[in-house]
Amino acid sequence: MIALQHLSKTYRAEGRSVHALRDINLQIPQGQIFGIIGRSGAGKSSLLRSLNLLERPDSGSIRIAGEEITTLDAAGLRALRRRIGMVFQHFNLLSHRNVAGNVRFPLELAGGHTKADIEARVNELLELVGLTEQREQFPSQLSGGQKQRVGIARALATQPQLLLCDEATSALDPETTLTVLQLLLDINRRLGLTIVLITHEMAVVRAICDRVAVIDDGAIVESGPVAEVFLHPRHHATRRIVAEGAYTPLPTLGKQGATSTRLLRLTFLDGATYEPIIADVGQQLDAPINILQGSIGRIKDRPYGQLIIGFDGNAVRARRAFEARGVHVEELTA
Ligand SMILES: Nc1ncnc2c1ncn2[C@@H]1O[C@H](COP(=O)(O)OP(=O)(O)O)[C@@H](O)[C@H]1O
Ligand SMILES: [Mg+2]
Repeated sequence: MIALQHLSKTYRAEGRSVHALRDINLQIPQGQIFGIIGRSGAGKSSLLRSLNLLERPDSGSIRIAGEEITTLDAAGLRALRRRIGMVFQHFNLLSHRNVAGNVRFPLELAGGHTKADIEARVNELLELVGLTEQREQFPSQLSGGQKQRVGIARALATQPQLLLCDEATSALDPETTLTVLQLLLDINRRLGLTIVLITHEMAVVRAICDRVAVIDDGAIVESGPVAEVFLHPRHHATRRIVAEGAYTPLPTLGKQGATSTRLLRLTFLDGATYEPIIADVGQQLDAPINILQGSIGRIKDRPYGQLIIGFDGNAVRARRAFEARGVHVEELTA
């Protein structure tokens, strides 16, 4: 869907020049979640931002759905940008507009929609990202995860075919990260949208990406299916990322049936050992339970455990079943 050939970019500032992208060649298949990983300063943002020409490469070709975009005129560029949504690390919401107002904004800019069309679309988007109840709130009243959900809804407003995410979860805590990644996965499945995300965290790539490319000092040094790249890293930059990311507690999200997956955090204190309980509850509710993340430890001399589970089914019944067995339950939402 996206084909980059011999892409190069040099910044010149204050007599210095920085070679940010060096002869990038990359194919990004349609409908996938494609990760670009690298350390800070590697060139990730420059690469991502060249996909909608927020950053213009000095040379090279960018074809999206067969169309060369580097030669588009102003009208072509505006049309292109409506087909590409973008999500930012620091959300970039309009602080004087409420949630609905932020989501409505790109539709107003695009023009050609009636008020009723816009409201219907905004309602649909807020429903999709789970923010219907927050529609009148202002960004300052939202949590980080909720802000990013607004950012995602806004990015989807003009029904793009491609979503670019620039460190979309880097400002969020691990649990909120999980719920936002789950949302991106749902959107990829439901809408068949291609997602390109850049990150410095292997856990993010491991959680939701199909393929990954490793960028180091402006060059792609390795790319392929995520498991292949991370299990058999060839380049030293990849080895470093794998070594640093090995212990990050972010799970791989279930790739099937994700649209109805609820995330629950279970906390066990003292004697309760969780495996029989999980199996028991799974059987009682006749729904598979996926253990996504777990840790055990001690609070002083009392053993405790925490699990995050993915569960396709009635969360209220699940909560009751766990609580009846002495387990504390919390549903994770952004
Ligand atoms: N507008 C700019 N002017 C000058 N140098 C820049 C500019 N944007 C990025 N750079 C430099 O280009 C390199 C790549 O930056 P960037 O693409 O932001 O990397 P990453 O997103 O991986 O951190 C860095 O050395 C950065 O300092
Ligand atoms: Mg960056």
